[in-house]
Amino acid sequence: MLEPPSLDTQAPVQSEVQPETPFSKLGGAPTIAAIVARFYDLMESDPAYGALRAMHAADLAPMRVSLAGFLTGWSGGPRDWFAANPGRCMMSIHKPFTIGADTAGQWAEAMRRAVEGAIEAGEAADPQLAKAMAGVLEELALGMAR
Ligand code: HEM
Repeated sequence: MLEPPSLDTQAPVQSEVQPETPFSKLGGAPTIAAIVARFYDLMESDPAYGALRAMHAADLAPMRVSLAGFLTGWSGGPRDWFAANPGRCMMSIHKPFTIGADTAGQWAEAMRRAVEGAIEAGEAADPQLAKAMAGVLEELALGMAR
């Protein structure tokens, strides 16, 4: 006999269909990974980002994992990073650092170039959305300068 539909809003979702999110529209984990890889590759290779690079630890490998995890949850994907970092936010992460207009500008520019590179390489499923995300991240970074 068929069970009547549950009215319990806490009941697990029966459907396998996941809601569309910016994360999924962008192309999911491979797209975020491609953008983050390009971002830190630029930071490591282009002297224009020397001041930004100098603020970071010698080994950028943990940052590559962490920023990808952050952007994944931030864009509506799996929230593992937020579950593993309870209570951490943009302000608490960056409190130990003095971020000026120069380093904020370097972050914003490197992120814009990383996203543009990913779009050109066909690594972003929705180029318009990827551009919009780059714009938001740029504004966010520039707004962190003090
Ligand atoms: C405004 C310019 C910014 C500067 C100068 C900056 C600088 C830094 C530095 C120096 C670290 C620590 C790195 C290390 O331990 O090696 C860091 C960590 C981090 N930043 Fe930024 N950041 C900026 C903007 C942003 C933005 C806009 C985001 C996200 C959209 C972001 C996300 C993160 C994350 C997720 C971490 C890693 C936290 C952790 O795992 O400990 N940052 N940032």
